[in-house]
Amino acid sequence: MTQITEETRQQLIQTAMEYRHRAYIPYSHYAVGAAVLAADGRIFGGCNVENASYGASNCAERTAIFKAVSEGMDRLLAIAVIGGPEGEEEQVSTEATPCGICRQVIREFADPETCEVIIARSSTNYRVMTLGQLLPDSFGPENLG
Ligand code: THU
Repeated sequence: MTQITEETRQQLIQTAMEYRHRAYIPYSHYAVGAAVLAADGRIFGGCNVENASYGASNCAERTAIFKAVSEGMDRLLAIAVIGGPEGEEEQVSTEATPCGICRQVIREFADPETCEVIIARSSTNYRVMTLGQLLPDSFGPENLG
């Protein structure tokens, strides 16, 4: 695990919950928010953005990461995610664990051993995993030599 404090975890969860309200979800009605902690301390939020051509939809995690990279993020220390059916507010009934594509995109910018993935159902109900637990034996930039 990293040196992330409980206060920072709470900030990430709160940001993810705020951005969850911005989810564009006319098809799944499943609202997801995410928040990324950059190595320089900045936090970037994102939501899922769906599309009438379903495959063009983007997950909340990737929205947050792409925002962060476009604003100059170098490395990612942690990411929080919260997702559940539209209408659920303070406490959601499901865990939105990052999909396979998002795990690989997180991997591009994070150390599997230390990056925290905070999977929340509310500000008090969450669990923390490392990226390496979610994506073992991963392929990253270092593997290209
Ligand atoms: N989704 C996310 O944004 N993140 C996840 O971790 C799981 C799934 C989105 C994709 C789609 O818009 C909706 O949730 C249902 O799959």
